[in-house]
Amino acid sequence: MPSVYIKTYGCQMNERDSEAVAAQLVAKGYTLATSENAADVILLNTCSVRDMAERKAVGKMANLAADVRKNRPNVVLGFMGCMAQSRGKELIDTLPDVDLVIGTQKFHRTADYLDEILAGKRDKVVDVEAERGSEAEIRQHLLFGNGGTSSESPKRAITAFVSIMQGCNQYCTFCIVPYTRGEERSRAIPDIVAECQQLVAQGVKEITLLGQIVTSYGRRDYPVQDGKSAFVQLLDAVHEIEGLERIRFTSPHPKGYGDDLVEAYARLPKLVESAHIPVQSGSDRILKLMHRGYTRERFLGILAKLRAVKPGMGITTDIIVGFPGETEEDFAQTLSLTRAARFQNAYVFKYSPRRDTPAATMPDQVPDTVIEERHARLLELVNDIGREHYAASVGTRQQILVEGPSHKNAARLQGRTRCNKIVIFDGAARHVGQVMDVQIIRAGTFTLYGDPAIVNLN
Ligand code: 5AD
Repeated sequence: MPSVYIKTYGCQMNERDSEAVAAQLVAKGYTLATSENAADVILLNTCSVRDMAERKAVGKMANLAADVRKNRPNVVLGFMGCMAQSRGKELIDTLPDVDLVIGTQKFHRTADYLDEILAGKRDKVVDVEAERGSEAEIRQHLLFGNGGTSSESPKRAITAFVSIMQGCNQYCTFCIVPYTRGEERSRAIPDIVAECQQLVAQGVKEITLLGQIVTSYGRRDYPVQDGKSAFVQLLDAVHEIEGLERIRFTSPHPKGYGDDLVEAYARLPKLVESAHIPVQSGSDRILKLMHRGYTRERFLGILAKLRAVKPGMGITTDIIVGFPGETEEDFAQTLSLTRAARFQNAYVFKYSPRRDTPAATMPDQVPDTVIEERHARLLELVNDIGREHYAASVGTRQQILVEGPSHKNAARLQGRTRCNKIVIFDGAARHVGQVMDVQIIRAGTFTLYGDPAIVNLN
């Protein structure tokens, strides 16, 4: 049977989509190649959120066409995902070596299309149609692949990602996602719970619920019940699963943090004290231009409520610098919000104009040199605050879930605290999959070092 290599760009949703496609192909008898040089099929699962991500994937495909294709003319080359969705056939017009373009609602058709192409029944396939029910198709897992498609030696999957919805109706003025992922569509609660149960039966201890805006989950399908939104109803249902240790989710929207979600942190012990809440800017004027639907005060109010319930909450965020019209005063507001929010970490992005989005044609686009300079200043502040958070953990005892060998040093183990800090320590294979306490003895850059022996001698 043919072998396939999938390279993924972009977010965790893309990683999850790639995993589901890989699992679909494995179920059909394909093998997963360890590198593109050994593969019969090479798929690039693409990201459109910033121009750089698109350019990387296009450049990669051009290289594959020039190198791999030249030596092995029968290799099948394909684009999947967000850029495939938004550019469609145009991708084949610019890169004629591409055989397959699969949009974000057609991942489940990949195996069929590849079969047809490999059998010589079809030459090129472009499928970027919308499909009802496609949100429920991202459900297959690579049982021992630990979420990746890199085909490393099999290791036990301790953590898993579960896609609960697709699409976005928020239409932030900078963002291409509503055009690449389509309208918001949610899976049914029993369907999601069944998938989670199956994962837990296979040894998974931690599940991260995924979607473009998870806090909007199911709002058209499940009415508010006892003051609980559909998303909180889903959290309750997943929380019931015996053997599941931890629940995370990403990404929420700040407007989704009603009291029901804040209270869920107090009520549900498996819901760990960690939240990635994208703020995007600290300036009310810019937030309005972005169409975010909250003010800085409301955002800070949400963090205060969460910290009132869980003081050790690890809060991370996304921030865009250089949105059109951002003045030095607006940027100063972002710096001051960053200080006030005391984020554990923040992803700082340089604004990138996206086709068809309102912001791309707004006046007063910020020059690159200014964006670069603000990006560096904000990153320095984010790193300083992050360092303080990590340093403050030294000397504390933390509960970690042990995930497996450390990515940096395979002789050591790696786990994660409830507030989502990585902890590296010397442990034994039997610790993998365990929830255990460690004493934090040292902090590095966004990494902690722990000693399990002090508190846990088993
Ligand atoms: N330019 C820069 N960053 C962007 N993001 C989304 N769209 C853009 C854009 N046009 C960032 C946001 C979002 C994260 C996933 O990517 O911060 O939360």
